[in-house]
Amino acid sequence: MESRLRGPARLMLVSDLDYTMVDHDDPRNASLLRFNALWEAYYRHDSLLIFSTGRSPVSYKPLRIEKPLLTPDITIMSVGTEIFYGELPDDGWQHYLNHNWDRNIVVEETNKFPQLTPQAEAEQRPHKVSFYIDKVKATEIMNVLSQRLAKRGLDVKIIYSSGIALDVLPKGAGKGQALAYLLKKFKIDGKLPCNTLVCGDSGNDAELFSLPEVYGVMVGNAQEELLHWYAQNAKSNCRILHAAERCAAGILQAIGHFHLGSNVSPRDIKDFHRCEINIFCPAYEVVKFYLWYEKWRCAEIEDSEQYVQNLRSIFHLLGVCVHPSGMELPLHQCIDAMGRLYGDKQGKRFWTWVDQLSSAQIGSDTWLVKFYKWELNENERQCSLTTVLMKSQVEAVDNFTWLHMHQTWLDGFGIADAESWLF
Ligand code: GLC
Ligand code: MG
Repeated sequence: MESRLRGPARLMLVSDLDYTMVDHDDPRNASLLRFNALWEAYYRHDSLLIFSTGRSPVSYKPLRIEKPLLTPDITIMSVGTEIFYGELPDDGWQHYLNHNWDRNIVVEETNKFPQLTPQAEAEQRPHKVSFYIDKVKATEIMNVLSQRLAKRGLDVKIIYSSGIALDVLPKGAGKGQALAYLLKKFKIDGKLPCNTLVCGDSGNDAELFSLPEVYGVMVGNAQEELLHWYAQNAKSNCRILHAAERCAAGILQAIGHFHLGSNVSPRDIKDFHRCEINIFCPAYEVVKFYLWYEKWRCAEIEDSEQYVQNLRSIFHLLGVCVHPSGMELPLHQCIDAMGRLYGDKQGKRFWTWVDQLSSAQIGSDTWLVKFYKWELNENERQCSLTTVLMKSQVEAVDNFTWLHMHQTWLDGFGIADAESWLF
């Protein structure tokens, strides 16, 4: 298994998506955006992000377009029956799941229960057969069904989630087993993460919490069936937290609770005038800059000449910015333009976030920072792959200077309104 990191991850964060990382009841995605800023500023460079979702690759795709989700290092999909490293599937895992599994028999036996309503075709996968069923009927059907399938010689696992969804999987599958498989691989490679935090809200997440040596957070809005599982099986486990906060805010709470690292999102910075850190950290600087940029354009900070002056001291006088349209502009000209854009997005849906930030020190005081910069403008998303050359400089206000910037539209995400895109 190829890993982006040379050594063990400082933190491996394994999170469910629906109603854990993503709060579908919050159209502003406030806590998700807070998480994103925290992750890219402090964790991306030495930690691993894993999404573990019940969704199939087919239904995961639209969620990524709809919500400002970061790109995970590994994606576990279809309730732990499919593992992907980027686009690359783990064929070994698929192969392993064939053991004592025959999808046709599962379909044949489940067909005999009229109470089971099959889910959409997109959610039916090689090692996952999924239905909807009413809460009151679920327990009984699960008992009878598992006996019938055992009689037919299959080793299955039946999971009930969110008070509505029922999945039939091979016994060796599931979110917990898939994670155990990955942990084993990391161990073999000598890269067992220093800490692992699992995060979930519903029944199919329960087995994540039963792995030894992981920290777990059941987010504040966790479903009844998960809390019930916890009460029955894990109450004495002090490595599991039932957060007070909902969704991604609950994840931030858990990072703090278990002392796994910083949990103060750069998004929560109130005063950009006074916000300074004493170490040179390019990731933090980039994240902070784009938050400032968003707040400036949304008029969520005051219209102060001091901000613009600060930028002038941070951006090199002779620095150049290559706009994704191909136009070349002096950095200072961009700052002037930015000064004029104060509040142009006020009251509008305008958010920025960076993804997959990486930085390389290429000289004693020089860094090359690369990231995807996303902008949501009302309902339109734009993204540029951006590279910034930075220099640490003791006398500069924030201890660094932006020397050069080069942006390229991400295929399919550069749109007509290039005018309002600055950085
Ligand atoms: C997701 C999947 C669905 C599954 C449910 C519970 O919603 O789309 O197929 O049944 O998770 O695991
Ligand atoms: Mg969920």
